[in-house]
Amino acid sequence: MARCIAFFLAAMCLVSVITAADWNIMNQRMKSTKSSLEITLKNYCESWRMNVELNNIKDFTVVPSECTSYIGKYMGGTQFTVDAEATIHECTLYLNTLCDLKKDGKDAWIFDIDDTLLSTVPYYKKHGYGGETLNVTGLEEWMTKGKGTAMGSSLTLFNDIKNRGIQIILISSRKEHLRSATIDNLVDAGFYGWKSLYLRSDEDGFKTVQQYKASVRSELINNGYRLWGILGDQWSSIRGLPTARRTFKLPNSLYYVA
Ligand SMILES: *[C@@H]1O[C@H](CO)[C@@H](O)[C@H](O)[C@H]1NC(C)=O
Repeated sequence: MARCIAFFLAAMCLVSVITAADWNIMNQRMKSTKSSLEITLKNYCESWRMNVELNNIKDFTVVPSECTSYIGKYMGGTQFTVDAEATIHECTLYLNTLCDLKKDGKDAWIFDIDDTLLSTVPYYKKHGYGGETLNVTGLEEWMTKGKGTAMGSSLTLFNDIKNRGIQIILISSRKEHLRSATIDNLVDAGFYGWKSLYLRSDEDGFKTVQQYKASVRSELINNGYRLWGILGDQWSSIRGLPTARRTFKLPNSLYYVA
């Protein structure tokens, strides 16, 4: 009886914290465990974020409304910076120990742009931290203003890779008409000296981003490049064949690019 009451109180507590409609994960968990496990909104949102990173939650169009504040704090806060630094540390370790570079101009490394080199957090901060349906026109307008901020640890890796004589290839899902704005923003933020910058043409628009990025990698391999690594923030940047010898993913739970 006491357990029932405890469970009832815990459930009441949850109901009072979580008012929005979408709390599927928690519902599932409550059903599966049938225990009086107390779950806070923070637990729920961290679980949502983690499952996005694991690529279990796919194709989401918006961040669940009850988690936008949590995700905003994560993406704009210290934990994200620490997580990104750990990712970069692993890239460096790999470059130091496992890459037998030929230094013939064909060693290559691929980077994404948005939320890998340049942060779009300033844009999403003004648009509900992923809680609003994406307005492509609005996002592209923001991109033309060149306000993307440098991601510090990525800049360190970018320069390290450049100094090792590895060719830097940028493959972005940004559209071709954003080319000059993108170059200006990258250079302003300290990124320069890449070998090629691939943006999506109208023709590429018929492919998924994953297909488009894989087709660019295929072209690079056909041109004799050895793809040592990819650093990206989306699964669509690292999945699909052919791929690089190692892939590294930065966290991003603001949006999903298929
Ligand atoms: C999308 O953004 C553009 C440019 O800022 C704006 O004019 C338009 O009203 C927005 N559309 C919606 C549906 O909010």
